Amino acid sequence: MTLIIKRMHPHFFAEVSGVDLATSFGSDILTEVVNAFAEHSVLLFRNQFLDDESQIAFSERIGPLEKNITATFGNSRPEISKISNVNVDGKVLKKGSDDEIFLKGNSVWHTDSSFKVVPALGSALSAREVPPVGGETEFADMRAAYDALDDGKKQLIQDLTSVHSFIYSQRQMNSDGRYNLTAVMSDEELEALPPVQHPMIRVHPESGRKAIYVGRHASHIVGLPIEEGRALIKELNEFATQPEFVYRHHWRTNDLVMWDNRMVMHRGRAYDPKYKRVMHRTTVAGHVENNPWVVRKQVA
Ligand SMILES: [Fe+2]
Repeated sequence: MTLIIKRMHPHFFAEVSGVDLATSFGSDILTEVVNAFAEHSVLLFRNQFLDDESQIAFSERIGPLEKNITATFGNSRPEISKISNVNVDGKVLKKGSDDEIFLKGNSVWHTDSSFKVVPALGSALSAREVPPVGGETEFADMRAAYDALDDGKKQLIQDLTSVHSFIYSQRQMNSDGRYNLTAVMSDEELEALPPVQHPMIRVHPESGRKAIYVGRHASHIVGLPIEEGRALIKELNEFATQPEFVYRHHWRTNDLVMWDNRMVMHRGRAYDPKYKRVMHRTTVAGHVENNPWVVRKQVA
């Protein structure tokens, strides 16, 4: 069996057909999937009838999985993260509730788990129920954005490190002062997520391609005054999410999309909250190959 791979955007994002991810398909096919992932950064598989067990089984073939940062949302397994506007009782989240604001954070450009010491390599999102309109996910190719930077900017960020903080990005959701994060996550869960440092350029280990690494969790830049660093992060976020680097995916039920968090950013788009949007995510843990800060910490 050979996969059919159709590129959907000039820079990245490919639709892959010819494989049923719920089965234990052969290692030759897995190699094709991994190679396509390295080349296109985001892969779409349509008509994948996955439950949590089969989604975990497929994702673990890519690599070890992260565990959830919170037990709040009633996930079936710690490896499954529900991205959903439906609560544990099956009801749609109330507008303005803490859970709804927490979920809304996904609408800001980000890369998953960049607030962790070892950020995510890849995410796989399975669409279990989608609204008839809206609720798309947009992806930005941070490799193409890096390539398009002028040489001066490439030089400037080459050796810079930014601080990524879960608390910082959550604070940005609290513009009216009514969001209570501790209603969503326990003190222990929050204490497990102190600020961390990551290079502002990630290098793909196989292709050697470079990508800008910023997003909503990036708070400031080591060695620069806070506001100067924030201005540079904002500039890079805006540069990288210009239309030429962005692809918008319109979900169908039973789509599975997997993306490389080192090479792309993403955000969810708005939809009418009267509709349910239920997505289940598995997250492949990353490596620390090009983060001297993490390596130093581990040695210490
Ligand atoms: Fe995300």
